[in-house]
Amino acid sequence: MLYEGGAAGKSNPNILGCVDNALGLKEWLKDQGHRLVVTSDKEPPSSTLDKELTDANIVISQPFWPAYITKARIESAPNLKLCVTAGVGSDHVDLEAACKRNITVAEITGSNVVSVAEHVVMQILALVRNFIPAYQRVVNGEWDIAGIVDRAYDLENKSVGTVGVGRIGHRVLIRLKPFDVKLHYYDPFSRLSAKDEKKLNVKRHETIESMVKECDVVTINCPLHPLTERLFNKDLLAKMKKGAYLVNTARGKIVDTDALVDAVKSGHIRGYAGDVWFPQPAPKDHPWRSMPWHAMTPHYSGTTLDAQRRYADGVKEVLERFFKGEKQRKEYLIADGGKIVSPAYTPGNTTGGANV
Ligand code: NAI
Repeated sequence: MLYEGGAAGKSNPNILGCVDNALGLKEWLKDQGHRLVVTSDKEPPSSTLDKELTDANIVISQPFWPAYITKARIESAPNLKLCVTAGVGSDHVDLEAACKRNITVAEITGSNVVSVAEHVVMQILALVRNFIPAYQRVVNGEWDIAGIVDRAYDLENKSVGTVGVGRIGHRVLIRLKPFDVKLHYYDPFSRLSAKDEKKLNVKRHETIESMVKECDVVTINCPLHPLTERLFNKDLLAKMKKGAYLVNTARGKIVDTDALVDAVKSGHIRGYAGDVWFPQPAPKDHPWRSMPWHAMTPHYSGTTLDAQRRYADGVKEVLERFFKGEKQRKEYLIADGGKIVSPAYTPGNTTGGANV
């Protein structure tokens, strides 16, 4: 399950993640006698995905164009043994149902974490400096400086906190340090080393509430799992500092869709950015598209041309090990042997509402 390539996919062979280029796996799999079906067609009930699942051993899918592998789909796939995420973040698989069937869920851990961290920094700056409205005025032939600076600030001296201090969260802190900001983090399952905490001069919080009430900017960098689904609901958004910005490149469902729109419209949240939505592709009438003061992009931060090369290589490695009956790299495994094995996820299912 890959994203549609369109004209760019046909002319640029380096867009490995699209249907046309099939992660560069076509010839390699054919030579070994495997059947590869590549499609972007995933809407139930009569999609190519639904038809092929009745026979498939492996599903390769991407967070950017996710095949929601729900309980119903797992039940319709008696031969399914392996779900591979070409990228990072495997919440599109019902992990509970996968565990019950002993289906292995693996992803290409680390493959696009730099790509996302750079996007986070870009979007924080876009919001704080009011870049999008400034750009729009240029395109519209306007020169209204006051209208732009009305909402433009420096990032320096602001408090910036990350929810999750794993591979992306830590890299975001490192990249923000030279902006002379006050850094914060909250992560119930992971702690930076004392040396890293000192180097970054970062404040660790025991609770998310304690962090969000201090921060001018909050960036979300944790996986979607039952503890983080709609974590940023009406209550938590209300506990954020008035006028704070929120940047979410983790997963759309970590933020309550309607509560966010209300918080932005009321001015309590000064701006929102990120690239993740639910479901994906986001419907044309998704309320975040028309919400004021946002700097959203479609989900592409983790699929730069550089990232695609890395996760395509990683997918090939996972397949090679599977075909040879070898163990997968430990850090790639989310669920295996009937249980969740990634320390960043909790047991359960977050695919609800995926239309299947
Ligand atoms: P990671 O596994 O290295 O780090 C995740 C961190 O989140 C861990 O330290 C974990 O302890 C923490 N965490 C888990 N539950 C938490 C909670 N309730 N509150 C606070 N922290 C919590 O993962 P990585 O590589 O940093 O990626 C994080 C997430 O970012 C992925 O799971 C995925 O959803 C998303 N992502 C998005 C991409 C995009 O293109 N927009 C690309 C790559 C990842």
